[in-house]
Amino acid sequence: MITSKLPATGTTIFTVMSALAKEHGAINLSQGFPDFPCPPALQAALERYIEEGFNQYAHMAGAISLRQAIANKVALTYGATINPETDVTVTAGGTQAIFTAIAATVHTGDEVIYFTPAYDSYAPAILLQGGKPIAIELQHPSYQIPWQQVKDATTPRTRMIIINTPHNPSGTVMTAADMRTLQDLVRDTNILILSDEVYEHIVFDGARHESALRFPELAARSFVVYSFGKTYHVTGWKMGYCIAPEALMREFRKVHQYLVFSVNHPAQLAFGEIMETQPKLWQELPQFYQRKRDLFIKHLQGSRFTIRPSQGTYFQLLGYENITDEPDTALAERWTKEIGVASIPVSVFYDPAVQSKVLRFCFAKSDDVLEAAAEKLCKI
Ligand SMILES: Cc1ncc(COP(=O)(O)O)c(C=O)c1O
Repeated sequence: MITSKLPATGTTIFTVMSALAKEHGAINLSQGFPDFPCPPALQAALERYIEEGFNQYAHMAGAISLRQAIANKVALTYGATINPETDVTVTAGGTQAIFTAIAATVHTGDEVIYFTPAYDSYAPAILLQGGKPIAIELQHPSYQIPWQQVKDATTPRTRMIIINTPHNPSGTVMTAADMRTLQDLVRDTNILILSDEVYEHIVFDGARHESALRFPELAARSFVVYSFGKTYHVTGWKMGYCIAPEALMREFRKVHQYLVFSVNHPAQLAFGEIMETQPKLWQELPQFYQRKRDLFIKHLQGSRFTIRPSQGTYFQLLGYENITDEPDTALAERWTKEIGVASIPVSVFYDPAVQSKVLRFCFAKSDDVLEAAAEKLCKI
């Protein structure tokens, strides 16, 4: 009766694992969301803007006070000059920004290169436009980008390359050398870049987030995507934004206006206000999450897992090759039921699935939850 446009797509593993964790009373380190509260200043600002009556449609591209705050922030953090009128659009989370950028630019038959393991929204968004997702595997276990392979995979049909740094699920961050290699690779081509930087402020061990916005040649051909959910512990608000040069943003907005038209008005005003008045909320994020990563790893020291400390994001991969040969999906389900800790099998971030004997754990959790989870994992 109906021909599916995404026949291979089922219920996402995130929904499956969270439901399984609930059913078995397991500690849920599967889906990526913090268990700590929204910053009080953000909540107070939101309540105030609702009270003051900012409850009708915002400007299609976003409240100008927020777009100005975003422009100020990227000037400060990445040395990038953007025009808040033309170069930024506020979106319903990073996911909508990603979908919109792809829908606005990828034509039938266009090829889009992305790297696996990958955040799960990229390939379906490409397929829905009649595009061809070209998956390139990151090198295991370092999860570095194999640049020669990328070069070999580019063709006259390559419309876009999607990068993600800090990277979910691997927790690696791209270096300045990576960004320069990418810049060289796309020079003299029509290839666009979609740079998914939703974990921009969750980078560890003194490393610097190498935003595409720091590299003028890249910025000139990039859609750069951010998420307030990750930065302000409010993933359920589904708020984010996209930055792109005017010509690209014009096309982006043509889709955005028919996809959502505009997004939550009082929340935009609240974010605009606290970005200006509470910069510590994002400035202190690296230390905040690094302490959590270190705590989780410290309590896993007695375990049989292979641990390569995460360089960024709030995810830690654990290799179980010294423990069992079981496939990761069956194992993640079994350990949720028997050990009481839910994780995400990394094979689901590949298409087709690749067995990597690695599970992903989210450490955006309170200390006692992380300690209790690590204690259970150490018993395996
Ligand atoms: C790599 C990556 N990109 C984008 C997103 C989407 O962010 P949002 O929740 O703001 O849609 C996520 C969320 O998990 C993510 O991990």
